[in-house]
Amino acid sequence: MYLYPIWIRLWHLFNAVLIIVLIVTGLSMQYTDKQDYILVVGFARAVKWHNIAAILLILNYVFFVAGNLLTANGKYYKLEKRTIWKDMVKQMKFYGWGMFRKEKHPFPITLERKFNPLQKFSYVLAMYVAMPLVIISGLGLLFPEVTVNRVFGVSGLLLTDMLHIATAFFLSVFLIIHIYTCTLGSKPTSLFRGMLSGYHESDEH
Ligand code: HEM
Repeated sequence: MYLYPIWIRLWHLFNAVLIIVLIVTGLSMQYTDKQDYILVVGFARAVKWHNIAAILLILNYVFFVAGNLLTANGKYYKLEKRTIWKDMVKQMKFYGWGMFRKEKHPFPITLERKFNPLQKFSYVLAMYVAMPLVIISGLGLLFPEVTVNRVFGVSGLLLTDMLHIATAFFLSVFLIIHIYTCTLGSKPTSLFRGMLSGYHESDEH
């Protein structure tokens, strides 16, 4: 099944590389006093590469949103409000229990349904909630002159920074869980191969 058109694969590749650069440089800025750690690339270099990667990520994000608005890929991100919670519980039971008993996937992938309910929910949360928040707060830090000065007596810059760190942390955790769940296809490498070739291999055991 051809599920990942070339534009999604290119977007995804750039997105993954840029997010990893942002995590490494972001952590380097956070722990700039710990010079002995491998991750620490030096404060000045970390700031420069964090800013460059962030601008590229924003352009790439605009490409993703436009692609989903203009092509059929957008339909895979529509949450079915009536059934989403029930369906997510079903999928969780499969990940926590059924999968180890070699049960069939409760939501096999089809051309109409590219993501299982948990994938869909986490992708919507990451792409349409966390990404806009991390981008807006990041722009607020890059251009502090436009950031609100004080909110109820608290520094606006501090609040923007806290929002930025919290969403960046969420996205880092998302990335770890995302890579793990991508090993849960019919074979551990199937989903990764799908993202390279564009073709999804069947989930049937
Ligand atoms: C080394 C890093 C990464 C690897 C190895 C990876 C791997 C994969 C794989 C194998 C898929 C296809 C399986 C599926 O449909 O779920 C996928 C899809 C996806 N990934 Fe990742 N990913 C990485 C980083 C990221 C990051 C950082 C984000 C977002 C912040 C992300 C968001 C997505 C989204 C939204 C999709 C679905 C795209 C679509 O088909 O519309 N990924 N990823």
